Amino acid sequence: MLVLGIETSCDDTACALVEDGQVLSNVVSSQYKVHQAFGGVVPELAARAHLENMAPTFEAAFRSAERSLDDVDVIAVTTGPGLQIALLVGIAEAKGLAVSTGKPLVAVNHLRAHLYAASMAHPDLEFPAVGLLVSGGHTSIVVLEGPGQIRELGRTRDDAAGECFDKVARVAGLPGAGGPAIQKNAAGGDPKAFRLPRARVKGAPLDFSFSGLKTAAARLYQDEAPPLADFCASFQQAVVDALVARARRAVELLDEEGTPAKALVVAGGVGANAALRDAMQALGAERGMPFKPTPLSLCTDNGAMIAGLGGAEFLRRGPDELDVAVRPGLGFKDPAGRDR
Ligand code: KG4
Ligand code: ZN
Repeated sequence: MLVLGIETSCDDTACALVEDGQVLSNVVSSQYKVHQAFGGVVPELAARAHLENMAPTFEAAFRSAERSLDDVDVIAVTTGPGLQIALLVGIAEAKGLAVSTGKPLVAVNHLRAHLYAASMAHPDLEFPAVGLLVSGGHTSIVVLEGPGQIRELGRTRDDAAGECFDKVARVAGLPGAGGPAIQKNAAGGDPKAFRLPRARVKGAPLDFSFSGLKTAAARLYQDEAPPLADFCASFQQAVVDALVARARRAVELLDEEGTPAKALVVAGGVGANAALRDAMQALGAERGMPFKPTPLSLCTDNGAMIAGLGGAEFLRRGPDELDVAVRPGLGFKDPAGRDR
């Protein structure tokens, strides 16, 4: 079964072709330059750039997979969560294709797709698995109870981890995307050089809070002009410690529930962070369970995760109606409104 995946929930236009779980092509057109001057993603500009980038991205996905639209069996598209005006571009494209070709359409939840990417890359992944979903817009600790079956244990009360990386990188004047820039500049730095807060949320040990860290890091940078490598390494370590502490607590919780975790996964853009991957690997080694890292090309926003989950959802529940709605605030529910 060949699935076309279309993703436009934020600032990446992405199209991919996935056949029976194998990624044939995965093309992403970044809008980084469009939003750079504004210090954040401007929804109207994102939508306009999606309109411009859709056709070349779509064509590149077919060219690189050496397939044509005729070969496609299912069209999968992100319907939420994300920026409404940006999501609408992908949805319109997918609906137009479904109408003109008569092929089935499947609505996909962006967050569930991020986590599904881990099981796409690791068909041997055993459940339950403890998963961190860390991106620019979301930070959650979850239990993967089966492929596409997710129980959220905690989430951020304020900023997402990726947002925190992006804001601190901007304060430090680093060019390029925030997370990768911090990671690059942290190389060789001392992660213990500066003590930054690892916030806890009272009464909710699995929830996160990153706004205090963001403010403390910005103040440190402005007040003390710290050496860049030490600053980036210390900040990155604070984020990693906060994330891994929740993963550790989630493993303990599953032990207490009598269904011990069998694996650890990370997904989402921040899941590409090498220090986080190393720390999760170490936690897995300590707890005697494998860490199954999502490949870098499936961590940041992409169409392959949409095609992958879309194919699985199609087999499970069949196609969606052509009038599927845009769902900007969808959370973890599937687009049909069910929890799993
Ligand atoms: O999943 P994603 O592409 O988009 C959303 O759904 O939000 O995540 C983007 C986020 C950005 O905040 C970016 O700075 C962060 O992922 N990111 C990283 C790394 N690569 C991307 N953060 C830390 N280290 C990285 N290597
Ligand atoms: Zn994402």
